[in-house]
Amino acid sequence: MLCLASTTDPAWVHEALKDPAALLSDHAQCEKKAALSALSLTQAFADDTDVVTELAALAREELEHFEACCQHLLKRGWSLKRGGKDPYAAQLINAAASDVTHHLVDRLLIAALIEARSTERLKILSERHPDAELAQFCRDLMETEAGHYMFFVRLAGRVTDPAFAKARLTELAKREAQIVAALPHLPRVH
Ligand SMILES: [Fe+2]
Ligand SMILES: [Fe+2]
Repeated sequence: MLCLASTTDPAWVHEALKDPAALLSDHAQCEKKAALSALSLTQAFADDTDVVTELAALAREELEHFEACCQHLLKRGWSLKRGGKDPYAAQLINAAASDVTHHLVDRLLIAALIEARSTERLKILSERHPDAELAQFCRDLMETEAGHYMFFVRLAGRVTDPAFAKARLTELAKREAQIVAALPHLPRVH
């Protein structure tokens, strides 16, 4: 179902779970960025109230995920750390086309890829997390992020020729796989 061009290295989950507090804090920051990114995308669809409404609903879900991450942090006596650089997202955004029309398509497809990689890794975490409640939380998040992945792919196919969007998704997925393969394994989702 997912468009990813690679599967996650099995060594990643071991490193990610070495520091569950850092992992959860980093994931909270990712959820916050996803909410802000969805809201910022509404600017590109200012004349399309249907799409703006769908993006607003998606932003609300990401904000709920952010809040839930914060609640899980608090419950365990952990804290939210200031979000640092996100080399994964930054490198992916650099891969976006610079001309206006293709830039929007690429932005949507990059959002889809980030959702797809999150879904893949949340599934792994849901199977391996030693904290049963956080394992279930990852499972719940995974289901919503998979829906977001499909939403962004569909939206990209609405702003351009669907065949072009599909071909571009395949190209960007290859770049995403290279970026993921080159990143160190840390207690973070990407
Ligand atoms: Fe989310
Ligand atoms: Fe999402």
